[in-house]
Amino acid sequence: MSRVTEIVWVDAQHPDPGDLARAGSYIRAGQLVAFPTETVYGLGANALDAAAVAGIFAAKGRPADDPLIVHVADLDAVAALVTVLPPIARALAARFWPGPLTLVLPHSPAVPANVTAGLGTVGVRMPAHPVALALIRAAGTPIAAPSANLFTRPSPTRAADVAADLGGRIAMILDAGPTAHGVESTVLDLTGDQPRVLRPGALTVEALRAVLPDLAAPGPAGPTDPAAARRSPGTMLKHYSPRAEVLVLDGEDTARVRAALADVVGAARTGGRRVGLLLVDEDLAALAALPPGPDLVPLALGPGIDLPGQARRLFAALRDLDQAGVDLIVTRAPASAGLGLTVRDRLRRAASGRVQRVE
Ligand code: TXA
Ligand code: MG
Repeated sequence: MSRVTEIVWVDAQHPDPGDLARAGSYIRAGQLVAFPTETVYGLGANALDAAAVAGIFAAKGRPADDPLIVHVADLDAVAALVTVLPPIARALAARFWPGPLTLVLPHSPAVPANVTAGLGTVGVRMPAHPVALALIRAAGTPIAAPSANLFTRPSPTRAADVAADLGGRIAMILDAGPTAHGVESTVLDLTGDQPRVLRPGALTVEALRAVLPDLAAPGPAGPTDPAAARRSPGTMLKHYSPRAEVLVLDGEDTARVRAALADVVGAARTGGRRVGLLLVDEDLAALAALPPGPDLVPLALGPGIDLPGQARRLFAALRDLDQAGVDLIVTRAPASAGLGLTVRDRLRRAASGRVQRVE
């Protein structure tokens, strides 16, 4: 599957109408177009065209049992995709759309089976990015789009990340610069007895609880309910992984965690491994006494208090450390409040579950 991928710079606020018209016609013709959203870059196809959707799975190497999110430019477009639009879905859309919230609802017959992976439900969201919305309008159809990375790789927050994974496999990449949130949407299941967060994301559980007091959500150590994992197959453990091995240290006693970080890094270097140290500024500063060398690559995630900044930089940092040729990435999980829950989830899965508790 080799072809020339057209990579086009688009101004986020004033995208060139000609470029968007061309991108829209690719989508209508069953081709794949990668585009920016406020979370990560998406790999788009006509959501109502099963053959086009099959192309997404082929380009990503994604297993067929992992359903896709359908992106719309207005709430009216949802009506054709679902059998019911309950009042709570309308209220959530009114409050949080356009934005990083995916609503899982019972799907209508209009949605091809490969979009929904046969689950009986469809995830829908209205992205808050002018280029994404303009593309959906130009295409004149809802757009199915997973994150525009190869299966199991970190999600792309820059067009160059998309090109590295999917260049030569898709028709076009719309480049509007780095994405704002850097982590994906929050996936909320509205089909059960109780609303349930299937994947923590850019919209915090706390923000949702203000509207949904009975919201069920994963705890700080991840989903404990295997049924929840089955409901959202894409929340499987190995995901978002760089080539390097990832080790996450987790603990509340900062002095002890820093001592453990120093020990782990020292042992890995003694063993001849090149280590990437991915930490917030304060933790990196505390480890400044580690002997420098070509086998130690520090990467700062910004101030500890700036969780949005950590979320925004996370996937790009994992990819950049791969570029730097490290064998092992050592990092620390933030506390679980707010976006911390989302960053913890992505780190745990980047590490395929290798989380070391420090008491
Ligand atoms: O921010 C985002 O959500 C990005 C941008 C491009 O919109 N998209 C994204 O798509 O992250 P993807 O395919 O990489 O992740 C979608 C997640 C997966 O975990 C999938 O299992 C879940 O949403 N999902 C999609 N449809 C679902 C459904 N009907 N029921 C349960 N989970 C669903
Ligand atoms: Mg993804």
